[in-house]
Amino acid sequence: MAFQIPRGTQDILPGEVERWQFVEQKARELCRLYQYKEIRTPIFEHTELFARGVGESTDIVQKEMYTFEDRKGRSITLRPEGTASTVRSFVEKKLYANPHQPTKLYYIGPMFRYERPQTGRFRQFVQFGIEAIGSHDPAIDAEVISLAMNLYNSVGLKKLKLIINSLGDHESRKAHKEALIAHFEPRIGEFCSDCQNRLKQNPLRILDCKKDSGHELMKSAPSILEYLNEESVSYFEKLKSYLTDLNISYEVDPNLVRGLDYYNHTAFEIMSDAEGFGAITTLAGGGRYNGLVEDIGGPKAPGIGFAMSIERLLAALNAEGYSLPLEESIDCYVVALGDKAKDRSVSLVNELRQAGLTAEKDYEDKKMKAQFKAADRLKANFVAVLGEDELEKNIITVKNMETGDQTEVSINHFISFIQESK
Ligand code: HAM
Repeated sequence: MAFQIPRGTQDILPGEVERWQFVEQKARELCRLYQYKEIRTPIFEHTELFARGVGESTDIVQKEMYTFEDRKGRSITLRPEGTASTVRSFVEKKLYANPHQPTKLYYIGPMFRYERPQTGRFRQFVQFGIEAIGSHDPAIDAEVISLAMNLYNSVGLKKLKLIINSLGDHESRKAHKEALIAHFEPRIGEFCSDCQNRLKQNPLRILDCKKDSGHELMKSAPSILEYLNEESVSYFEKLKSYLTDLNISYEVDPNLVRGLDYYNHTAFEIMSDAEGFGAITTLAGGGRYNGLVEDIGGPKAPGIGFAMSIERLLAALNAEGYSLPLEESIDCYVVALGDKAKDRSVSLVNELRQAGLTAEKDYEDKKMKAQFKAADRLKANFVAVLGEDELEKNIITVKNMETGDQTEVSINHFISFIQESK
């Protein structure tokens, strides 16, 4: 029986993996400019962390986690997102004790959610995310959003839409929650069983329901923006003015709810506006989580961050018909003819590589023509031919594949010749 890859996962093969590396490199470079440092946390954590961190009433915790018992009967979960783990580490490793706050961290790694796979939705996907923990200055909210927008811009994406909302502080949310319960409760029987459960736990999540999105009560539901207290309003106003200062256009969508429980104040999503992108247009999502560090057992420390999947970024690039400027050529292909030359070519490619040059040779006893074909396929800038004659004279014939010029070079000077002609 031939084995098949599990549903919702993918192999990223050479030819495609270079696009991933390009994006990851850009993300790391941006984080360096913005001074976010990398954090690597385990792929699995104790289940309780996500139940507490992401929220019991969320779809993620209720139906999407890969949870299993380890050999000692402990409940373990493959991480569905990166924020809870990052905050756990911030608390456990006492990063809050560093006098320089906020603590600015980023991660790139696989996340796991048992979702129905479709275009842009996987069961294993790679998130690039950042978290700034320890400041409630709206300037850091604007910085986080600007880093996300900058990454998309720097890989060439143009058709983007930034949507922001404020979920308010605890007091505003409480008032809004009561208004939502009053709005939905009399007719909750007309909603799906998930929404019926959400009514008391977290009625805000009703607004995010896919099944009941057409119900008339959805449109008339009280908007959070009407329930923001003065402090929440002024926080939101300040964020908007910073975004304007940074030349970042945005739309306010009072229905932007987000699927995780830890948010307050700023919530945002970046969508692709490209035609033919498919049903799932959200590229990135994030927001502020002022209570999460305490919920996870740490001190009072407000945080904000976002995450985006690399899969969706690359899909958006495809939808916009933009190909990344990837380096595809190699410096030198060594063609060897005859046994002695073949033996010598082993150390010659090694010397090229040690000098920092990309080099390849034949390992299949191919004829000269086929070796040249292989060099062409690899887009070699130079092809160096070593036959018995050349070996005897201690020379090698180097062909510049762009100009067609051929030069006989002493083998002793071969490496420096390629280096200098590059
Ligand atoms: P999220 O909205 O659940 O937020 O996910 C963020 C991003 O991860 C999505 O916008 C999407 O790009 C990607 N994503 C999520 N699920 C899938 C999937 N099944 N397949 C492919 N891509 C997916 C969070 O995860 C929060 N931790 C973000 C955050 C960080 N908030 C504050 N800090």
